[in-house]
Amino acid sequence: MLTIKTAARTALAKSVSALYTAASLPHRAGTASPAKTPATFLPVLRFAACSDIHLSGDPDSAEAQRFAAMLETVYAYAAQQAYTGFDALLVAGDMTNCGGEEEYDVFNAVLKAHLRPETQLLVVTGNHEYIRYRKVDASQGSRVFARKMQRAEDLHAVINGYHFIGCSYSEDGRTFKAKLPWLAAELKKAAAESGGKPVFSFQHPAPWATIYGSADWGDADVPRMLRKCPQTINFSGHSHYPINDPRSIWQGGYTALGCGTLSYFETELDCFAGNFPYETKQAAQFYVVEADAQGNVRIRAYDLITSQWFNLEYYLPAPAGKRQDYLYRLQKQRDPAPVFPPETQIHTETDAEGHTLLVFTGAKDAFAVDSYKGTVLRGGVPVQSFNFSGKYMYLFEPDVYTADLGLLAPGNYTVTIHAMNCYAKLSKPLVFRFQVRADRKKGS
Ligand SMILES: [Fe+2]
Repeated sequence: MLTIKTAARTALAKSVSALYTAASLPHRAGTASPAKTPATFLPVLRFAACSDIHLSGDPDSAEAQRFAAMLETVYAYAAQQAYTGFDALLVAGDMTNCGGEEEYDVFNAVLKAHLRPETQLLVVTGNHEYIRYRKVDASQGSRVFARKMQRAEDLHAVINGYHFIGCSYSEDGRTFKAKLPWLAAELKKAAAESGGKPVFSFQHPAPWATIYGSADWGDADVPRMLRKCPQTINFSGHSHYPINDPRSIWQGGYTALGCGTLSYFETELDCFAGNFPYETKQAAQFYVVEADAQGNVRIRAYDLITSQWFNLEYYLPAPAGKRQDYLYRLQKQRDPAPVFPPETQIHTETDAEGHTLLVFTGAKDAFAVDSYKGTVLRGGVPVQSFNFSGKYMYLFEPDVYTADLGLLAPGNYTVTIHAMNCYAKLSKPLVFRFQVRADRKKGS
C-alpha cells in the first residue's frame, strides 16, 4: 500500500510556495446563496457544542488539555463581545474512552477548574460510556454516568428562552428504542412552547442519512422523531468526521450538524487510504452557537489546534426551519469541480530507500478537496494507483502532498491525478511525466 508522508516534515515541502488551505479559499457564490449574518445581530444566548472528547484517566492528556482550552477560549471570546454570556456547554457524548470512573474524574476535574457557575452543563452518553460494561451488562454504563455526573442521563432544559433536549442511549448503549417516546414527547412540548424559535436537540450519533458520517455511523430511529419538530437544530458526534466539511451541516425536515471531535479524526470507512487520516490525532474542533431574541441563530466553528476560527459561518434566520439554505442539493450546486491552478507544482524525488516520491501542491475548491486519486502508467499500462484524503481539516498544514510510489523499475512514466470535492465532482486531470533512471541516486 502507498504511504502518504506529512509534507510539513520535509524540507522539500517547506520550499514549495504555492500553498492553499481551506480557510484561505474564497467561497464561490452558488445557487441560492445562504443567508448572511446581519451586522445588527445581537445574541441573547451563547453556547459551545462539542463531542467525542475521549478522556482517558490521564489528567495531562492532550484531550484533557484541549477540553480545558476550549472552555477558556469560549470565555475569552465571549468577554470581547457585546453579549458576554457563555450560557451552556453541550457535550454530545463520548466524554470518556470506556466509561471508566477515573475518566469521569478527569472530565469533572476539568469542569471544576474551567467551567464557571454561569455556564450550564448539558451532557449525554455516547457509546464509549458503555464500553467497559458491555460484555456483562451495558446498563452499568448508565448508572456510572448518573453517579459520576450527578444528573439524569436525559435532559430538557430551557436557557434564556431556548429549549435544549439531550437524549442518551438506551441502557443497551447502542440504540434509542427505549427513549423514543420520551424524545418525541419532549420535542413536541418544546415545539409548542418555543414560539417558532429553534429547539436545540442533541444525541451521540447523527440522524441517519443527513450529515457527513451519518451513513456510516448514524442512528435510524432518531430522525423519525426529529422530523416531527422542523425547528430543531440537532447536534451529534460519534463519527469524528471533520466539522469544516461542507457536508457537516444538513437541512431537510430539520437542521443537523456534526460536532467533530477533540480527540482524533475519522473519514470514510471505504476510503482506500483507511478510515483514519494520516494526522488523525491533530483534531480539536467545536462550535460556538449564538441566538438572538427573535430566534435567529449564528453557528461558527473553531479549530483549537491552530487557535483560529474556521472559515465558515452558518446563519439560520427566524422563523426556525422555514428557510433551508443547507439542503444537500444546494450545497452541491455551490461547489463546482476542483481546479489545479496554473501555478500548481509537481515533481519527483528519490528517498533514502530508493523509493520514488511524487510531490504536488493541492487543487482549489469552493469548499474543500475531499481526496486525490492518482494513476501511474508505464508504457500505457497502469502500475500504481493512490487515493488519499485532502488536508482541509488541518489548518496547520501546507496543502502539499507526497505519495510514495515505491521502488519503480527504470523507465518512463506518466501520472494522472484527479482532485475530488465533497460532492464527488472531479477536477480535470493533472498530468505529469517523469523518468526513473537506472543510475538514480538515493536521497536525491
Ligand atoms: Fe467517539
